[in-house]
Amino acid sequence: MSAEQWYYALAYHLSKDLELGFDLAGWWDAHRRLPPVNRMLELFAEAVLARIDGRVVVFVNEIDTTIALPFSDDFFAAIRACYNARATAPDYRRLSFVLLGVASLTYLIKDGERTPFNVGRRIELADFSFVEARALASGPRSTEPRADRSDSRRLHHSHSPKANRPRLDEIGCTGCHIQNLRVNSDRRVADVETRFNAAKGIFNRLFAAATMLFNVVDDGQAFPQLLPKGKSFLVKKIFADFKRHDLGPAFHERQYDGSLVTKFMTEPLWGVGTTALYGHDGRSVNLEEAILRHGGEAQQSRERFASLSDNNQRKILEFLATLVLFPPDDTASNLNPGNPGTNDPQDPTEHGSINLGALFQIPDEGPE
Ligand code: HEC
Repeated sequence: MSAEQWYYALAYHLSKDLELGFDLAGWWDAHRRLPPVNRMLELFAEAVLARIDGRVVVFVNEIDTTIALPFSDDFFAAIRACYNARATAPDYRRLSFVLLGVASLTYLIKDGERTPFNVGRRIELADFSFVEARALASGPRSTEPRADRSDSRRLHHSHSPKANRPRLDEIGCTGCHIQNLRVNSDRRVADVETRFNAAKGIFNRLFAAATMLFNVVDDGQAFPQLLPKGKSFLVKKIFADFKRHDLGPAFHERQYDGSLVTKFMTEPLWGVGTTALYGHDGRSVNLEEAILRHGGEAQQSRERFASLSDNNQRKILEFLATLVLFPPDDTASNLNPGNPGTNDPQDPTEHGSINLGALFQIPDEGPE
């Protein structure tokens, strides 16, 4: 979506919901020489505050998705501008914004060169307790006919185990440790989707379904070529941007020639539950030490972690400890489902394995 479309959609909903009753499309076109964000600001001044006497509160939902838009810095800067305008144009005191979503205030404006989003009050929402959620179990009693999908979705979220996931995004870790990473051209030759499945998984109760991701190209040779399909692919829970960052002197490394290496690639957090000795040099013995050693570009995020309550720090560490990688030899799969019931963890024919070799047996070649 372009900035133009996005701001117009916002203006459209504003004018509809506030029943401004004026020719928005005409107004929008008449101001098209202004960049969209300025048009939005003008709209607030000329159309909204001028037509409505009372207070206007604009709710912006799911700001975590807004943050991902390439022009989001401008948008949040504009909201801050509305706040600053209160000093000179008292009308703006009637205009407030409520931003809903998972994000810390300082994370809203990503460009470090710009003034951060340092206005507003943060209201933290805890998950429903069991007792609170029970009251909702019977469903809303309102007579409103419209089924409110977003409400049921929110309730669903608070019941899912994810709700207990500490907000790595709120303390800025996901600025570098990006949870899901899009690979545009996937060069893998196979995909292994692994799930917890107590019935089919044997040894570690995981079961993997392997699929091949290559095309067989017959080039007239004895062995046909296997070419990766190269589709786009979302790597889930990898928690890395694979870019280099300066994490401050505690990570710097002196080389034999005397030069200093200051930048290191973000380590994926995927697997950190089982890969102790952390950092490129293995100098942090546990996760807490690895996090507290962050400085430099990650200084702010490190301070936010350090200032969390013990309980919230523990939640983060517990979550990281759940990011575990399992050895393929121990995981039953569609390629080697194993032999349930015998329970001998030492014998791969009994607990199964991800035997990728089986994928590459070209049918008319026969096995091996
Ligand atoms: C500015 C980018 C940045 C931010 C922000 C950041 N990290 Fe890191 N993190 C890195 C880099 C780069 C490394 C790798 C350092 C190395 O190789 O020595 C790393 C390493 C780690 C490691 C060690 C992983 C391993 O396998 O060795 C953990 C754990 C970790 N970060 C957790 C966090 C947490 C939790 C936060 C939020 C409080 C955070 N990081 C914020 C860049 C960042």
